[in-house]
Amino acid sequence: MRIVVLVSGTGSNLQAVIDAVADGSLPVTIAAVGADRPGTRGVERAAEAGIPTFEVDFRQYPDRAEWNRALTDAVAAAEPDYVVSSGFMRILDQHFLDRFPNRYLNTHPALLPSFPGAHGVRDALAHGVKVTGCTVMVADAGVDTGPILAQAAVAVLPEDTEDTLHERIKVEERRLLIETLAGLSAAADTTADTTAGA
Ligand code: GAR
Repeated sequence: MRIVVLVSGTGSNLQAVIDAVADGSLPVTIAAVGADRPGTRGVERAAEAGIPTFEVDFRQYPDRAEWNRALTDAVAAAEPDYVVSSGFMRILDQHFLDRFPNRYLNTHPALLPSFPGAHGVRDALAHGVKVTGCTVMVADAGVDTGPILAQAAVAVLPEDTEDTLHERIKVEERRLLIETLAGLSAAADTTADTTAGA
């Protein structure tokens, strides 16, 4: 199973995927890592691991639709079975979704449908919830509205800041993302076996 991972920033979840592939616990090929801006740590991590990278800089395009088309083409060139948004902070339009139907996955640092958007950890903390967590879902055209594939809960501690809580959530998020990808990869293998045997 081939995946393309999209990042906008640090890429610590991407690093966990790279490490799991490297140690053999996740049987997928990271075909490419892409970003919506130049100079992300995520793309740097990929390059360090010898993974092909691309940057489709949002600011270099006259409008969102053209940027979406360019990003879609860059992702498609890597021929992924799944595309994973891992801290990719832009919504992709229908043109992209039609190219990868039900094949675009996203992770979010909250228990959706609570606290969608760019500040899931901050919003949960501000609301005073005692339990939050993370979600892996199929992305659609909305903001964190797609079908949920997996979730894990994380307790909020009285002394938590946004950073301490987010770090504990990310530990669960990485595990959940890797488990989800491993499950999809196993399902893809089963399908291939069945097709070969037919
Ligand atoms: C992750 O916690 C991810 O869920 C979040 O950004 C972080 C990226 O961390 N994404 C969103 O909030 C999307 N709504 P990383 O760059 O260190 O992997």
